[in-house]
Amino acid sequence: MPNSIKVTQTGGVVLVELNRPKALNALNQEIMEEIVETLVPLDRDPSVGCFVLTGNEKAFAAGADIKEMGSKTYMDVFTNDLFADWDKFAAMRTPKIAAVAGYALGGGCELAMMCDMIFAAESAQFGQPEIKLGVMPGMGGSQRLTKLVGKSKAMDMILTGRMMDAVEAERSGLAARVIANDELMAETMKAAETIASFGKPSVMMARETVERALESSLREGLMFERRVFQSMFATEDQKEGMAAFAEKRKAEFKGK
Ligand code: HXC
Repeated sequence: MPNSIKVTQTGGVVLVELNRPKALNALNQEIMEEIVETLVPLDRDPSVGCFVLTGNEKAFAAGADIKEMGSKTYMDVFTNDLFADWDKFAAMRTPKIAAVAGYALGGGCELAMMCDMIFAAESAQFGQPEIKLGVMPGMGGSQRLTKLVGKSKAMDMILTGRMMDAVEAERSGLAARVIANDELMAETMKAAETIASFGKPSVMMARETVERALESSLREGLMFERRVFQSMFATEDQKEGMAAFAEKRKAEFKGK
């Protein structure tokens, strides 16, 4: 049983709650291992249609665990490839929504950005304050934040270490939605249920195609999209979705 996260499945939605409240959900080795070991098998489970990753009212996660990391040597972090296992979480193919309230700092902001979309409570505070610790982002912040908000604002965040509130995060493209604090989980779960109600293969293909936009030229991305779109005509869900529309009924997707 995981110790630093709580995992609950309701229908097709898996809710993952970071659970180190005394350390503001600081991301230590244990929490990373538990997330990867618990969620990667669920990623391949056809009954799981969406993940929601969240923290608590005070913090989504206040960063990588500074106390655990502080005394490590270069050889420790290089030979163990510190933080590399987070790539396994980022690479999961089932959609994942970060529901962020309170602090999402350093590795916490980077973990939220590994998700496919960020829903921010009004209380959310995003930041990459590593510069204040004598380091810099190391879990994707310099790359993902720049792709999401552009060079100028990423430089502002990373070089000054300042925080960004939910409204600024939404305006800048970091967050998909700003939600009242007490509605964050209900609205996020509703969106996750909607995603999980669709055929998993088409959702995975659409997700992968959007993801490709961040990594390819427009020409390559458009070709990838066209080919993936065309391949969907091999699925039963495409036949069902279009037939249901024509017959004025709700589609029953089978994930085939
Ligand atoms: C370990 C942490 C922590 C962290 C908070 N805590 N953040 N422990 N690693 N990242 C612990 C505190 O030490 C404290 O423990 C408890 O959580 C509550 O925190 P407080 O500071 O007392 O709370 P508050 O005064 O409300 O301030 C909240 C805060 C502050 C502004 C978020 O905690 C803070 O600045 N935290 C660090 C944020 C940060 O620098 N993140 C980036 C980390 S580096 P005790 O035992 O005293 O109660 C990073 C690197 C990524 O993420 C990869 C590149 C290296």
